[in-house]
Amino acid sequence: MTTKDLLEFLKKNQFEFISGEDLATHFGVTRAGVWKHIKKLQDGGVKIEGVTNKGYRLAQSLLCEGEILAGISPQTIKNLPFENKNIICEVFDSIDSTNTYIKSNPKNGLHLVCSSEQTAGRGRRGNSFYSPANTGVYFSIAFSGLEYPNNIYTVAAAVAVCKVLCKISQKNTQIKWVNDIYLENRKVCGILTEGTFDFETGNLSEVIVGIGINLETTDFPEEIQDKASSLGISCNHNTLVSKIVEEFFNTLSLPQTQIIEIYSEKSMILGKQVSFTQNGESITALASSFNSEGNLVCKTAQGEITLKAGEISILPTHLTSKKI
Ligand code: BTN
Repeated sequence: MTTKDLLEFLKKNQFEFISGEDLATHFGVTRAGVWKHIKKLQDGGVKIEGVTNKGYRLAQSLLCEGEILAGISPQTIKNLPFENKNIICEVFDSIDSTNTYIKSNPKNGLHLVCSSEQTAGRGRRGNSFYSPANTGVYFSIAFSGLEYPNNIYTVAAAVAVCKVLCKISQKNTQIKWVNDIYLENRKVCGILTEGTFDFETGNLSEVIVGIGINLETTDFPEEIQDKASSLGISCNHNTLVSKIVEEFFNTLSLPQTQIIEIYSEKSMILGKQVSFTQNGESITALASSFNSEGNLVCKTAQGEITLKAGEISILPTHLTSKKI
């Protein structure tokens, strides 16, 4: 038995207590031998809880590729819209950015890269994404060979993540256009969709969907302290990743009108007054609907404006009593 064997075993039984005696029997060593390896893991920073008469358990969720893959239902794998149904999953304790890594390590088939920490997490519009160790989950999904309209990946990802977070946390998570997930007016999850283009066909040749979820993060950097928050739940990170991957591909297989319908139901902006900048001008408008591509249709006093991308702010209700 090695320390790594013990860690793998604890990972497979995450959050469950296993007695020192059962561990000793399982590995064919003495209880003192088990204790020696537990101590080594704890000294290395792994949070293991030891309780008298109960045993030991991992007190943090650690990513494990076997568990992530086992958590994706065989039906989802069978229905994956690729010829090659092989899923390659890689997990890291720490990495610069899962999106950056997955981009520079293309694979055949579906590629999933997850990390417990990112040292250079990337957000939309060149922003960084705060990704501290163990208090969140950061992962990227890459695939090629699909020919959906480009925008639908972003919309489907937002729908899938919002649905799963809502179910797992039992909280009312909502989508802020384009694809941020909010809980009570604060961002708890960001999604960065990137793609590489095939210049011959004009189609996306590879799609990368990067998802960062704040689960238990509390200390945010000053510049995002009043905007960011966490779901405030501890859960099995592997199950969370598996469920989101499943939901993402199930959502993609729906008719586009239905995806937009669910997206609209989960939206936190429809019917609200929003502001945005267009050609250097600040515009206030009513967020009215999403068109079939997920673009935002807004009503202003001058008429309708359709936004394909960008950043909007929701105006506080006391500023929105004037109808336009
Ligand atoms: C945003 O809020 O602007 C998007 C944030 C996306 C963050 C995720 S975390 C996993 C993946 N790797 C990255 O570097 N970014 C995405």
